[in-house]
Amino acid sequence: MDHIEHALSTGQARAHGFEDITFVHQSLPNLSTSQIDLRTTLGELSLSSPIFINAMTGGGGKATLKINEALAIVAKECGIAMAVGSQMAAIKDSRERPSFEIVRKVNPNGVIFANLGSEATVEEAKQAIDMIEANGLQIHLNVIQELVMPEGDRDFTNALKRIEQIVQQVEVPVIVKEVGFGMSKETALKLANIGVKIVDVGGFGGTNFARIENERRLRMLTYFNDWGLTTTASIVEVSQTVPLSVIGSGGLQNALDIAKALALGASAVGFAGYFLKLLLEEGIESLIEEIGNLHSDLAMIMSALGAKTIEQLQCVPLVIRGETHHWLTERGFDTKVYSCR
Ligand SMILES: Cc1cc2nc3c(=O)[nH]c(=O)nc-3n(C[C@H](O)[C@H](O)[C@H](O)COP(=O)(O)O)c2cc1C
Repeated sequence: MDHIEHALSTGQARAHGFEDITFVHQSLPNLSTSQIDLRTTLGELSLSSPIFINAMTGGGGKATLKINEALAIVAKECGIAMAVGSQMAAIKDSRERPSFEIVRKVNPNGVIFANLGSEATVEEAKQAIDMIEANGLQIHLNVIQELVMPEGDRDFTNALKRIEQIVQQVEVPVIVKEVGFGMSKETALKLANIGVKIVDVGGFGGTNFARIENERRLRMLTYFNDWGLTTTASIVEVSQTVPLSVIGSGGLQNALDIAKALALGASAVGFAGYFLKLLLEEGIESLIEEIGNLHSDLAMIMSALGAKTIEQLQCVPLVIRGETHHWLTERGFDTKVYSCR
């Protein structure tokens, strides 16, 4: 509940780099909005929408059960996938299980992702998946959050080894995700080399867990508040380096952000802080309406660009400028791959 409270009070910076991306306008798109197909795939998973509710909560008793129940109703109503928050609390204390199990109860046929940190063992991963009959398992990487967290981990050894064992031994696809600090090409390469097929870049520029954890400590480690790769830079770094399915997330708030994330190379997009705020401040119906609007606005944007499918959207020309251009150029990426395609 601390995290939820501080996520709402610190908000989202909109420093994700999407303002550096401009689509090249097309005057003859030759498409009708009714032809737009929003279906997508993530590794072996088929999704009817590229939008999903990213990992947030559970394990905080009744209050988090209520939030997960509401999110599950929204996911079911909108036909979108949903992740639960870290299930370690329920693995350590079975009284916390209902706050996660509610999600499967509410949405028996939905696509639901389990969630654990990279400290998890294979046995714990299997328990998390079974707890909610998950269709996939997210493993979060959150080194900076742990460092800033007063009670956080300080030992980050052997995480890659543990993830490799989980990938080899669980029956569902594994998604390795960041939590708002972004993902570099170096990290993506290491993950691809151990058999990971799906990554969520969890880019910098939206919910900021250094700021959230700093709110929970007396001596603030403010030097981590601006730490990380933006969402846009991360999507390019990962998608241009390894043939993985990429989820674009970190600060997304509208359909143009979604279209840009997909055009840069993502196959799906995760929303956390923005959906949480809407849910808690305006209620379930408002969030359902907003997701409906995101779907219809995305279809409008795709029509304007002449992209009938997500795959076609991933090929439209766009120009990258400003900070994102500078970052990518310094990191050895040729931004003309996007502008001249
Ligand atoms: C209140 C809150 C709790 C979160 N808890 C988790 C978690 O348990 N596990 C996880 O992988 N990510 C967690 N996240 C991170 C989100 O899944 C996401 O990666 C991050 O917030 C960036 O996306 P956003 O800018 O859309 O919020 C949490 C986010 C919020 C706002």
